[in-house]
Amino acid sequence: MKYHDIKIAPSLLSANFARLADDIKKCEEGGADILHVDVMDGHFVPNITIGPLVVKAIKPLTKIPIACHLMISDPSRYIEEFVNAGADYISVHVEGLVHLHRTLSLIRSYGIKAGIALNPATPLNFAYDTADHCDFILLMSVDPGFGGQQFIPTFLRRSEKLRDFLLKNDLERVEIEVDGGVKLDNIEEIIKAGANMLVAGSGLFHGDLVENIRELRRRAENARQQMALFD
Ligand code: DX5
Ligand code: ZN
Repeated sequence: MKYHDIKIAPSLLSANFARLADDIKKCEEGGADILHVDVMDGHFVPNITIGPLVVKAIKPLTKIPIACHLMISDPSRYIEEFVNAGADYISVHVEGLVHLHRTLSLIRSYGIKAGIALNPATPLNFAYDTADHCDFILLMSVDPGFGGQQFIPTFLRRSEKLRDFLLKNDLERVEIEVDGGVKLDNIEEIIKAGANMLVAGSGLFHGDLVENIRELRRRAENARQQMALFD
């Protein structure tokens, strides 16, 4: 079986906002594949973070693609703004959306990658019924809103189920993303459950960011090799 490349996506929510450019440089040095930007509106989730202005400000600083994880109500209203700011990937939460296919098509119409995001208790049917319109599916492994929360282990079974569904339905091109509580010590089981886009905030930014990114990749690739033995 052919797997998707492992993509390490540091979540800038855990960065030093007064020195974002420095932290982005370190992400480059460590070999990050995606910069994960958490957009929160104080309505869909309790927290308020950043918006398109910050995406626009960091875009010229790096060649690393930028993923905007929209934890906002009615995200369809803001897609164009995030595209113009420089988003390369946009994920929208199904819990805040009525017209899923329409919004996914809108994102893709700008030539960028589209994904849906599911909270840990949101039925997987949302993913099954929209996967053919998605480039990736984000399965949250915490309730969204804050960095530094504890990984919810039911993610593992959900990711396995989703991967099986994608394989059985000729949708292997759809990638699985994990977000929340991803650390060096649980990455092996996460990889084995089928995720390849790995978002991590506190697990990377606490300590040596460059080395943590490299070590996360080493462990993820190692888990991959073990999986390949059983294929
Ligand atoms: C949570 C955000 C995450 C968060 C992850 O709502 O979507 O991207 O930054 O942070 P950690 O890795 O610390 O759980
Ligand atoms: Zn996120």
